[in-house]
Amino acid sequence: MKIAIINGPNLNLLGTREPDIYGEESFQDYFSELQFKFTEIELTYFQSNIEGEIINKLQEFGFEYDGIILNAAAYTHTSIGIGDAVKAIETPVVEVHISNTFSREAYRHSSYVSNGAKGVIVGFGLQSYQLAIQSFLEV
Ligand code: DQA
Repeated sequence: MKIAIINGPNLNLLGTREPDIYGEESFQDYFSELQFKFTEIELTYFQSNIEGEIINKLQEFGFEYDGIILNAAAYTHTSIGIGDAVKAIETPVVEVHISNTFSREAYRHSSYVSNGAKGVIVGFGLQSYQLAIQSFLEV
């Protein structure tokens, strides 16, 4: 099984970025733990701060992979283009967020991704990604 994780803007700074909200672990370290935990899965990780690059990767992975885990970060709340790409591809997408966006500012309560997503996992810290992987395994 092939699963891709796509992270959006500022998630390259995990570990140092607002650690009270996002924790103190870098995504690279967490990704290594996921690879160790799910040896039977071919995991791929892509991060970009650029909207179009995220859309390009959704289109690239979206006809090839068994699942995509997408944290579009701030673009979640602004990008019709990313939302359209999620709907345009064949691979099911699970939307994840590290923080509980619903307990934060009102502008984080809406998502252009959710409508086309298979499901949404919000607010479990980095564990949100592991729960998303498990959702692909246990269906
Ligand atoms: C986030 C929540 C977004 O509102 C925010 O812009 C992010 C991260 C999360 O994972 O909690 O960058 O997607």
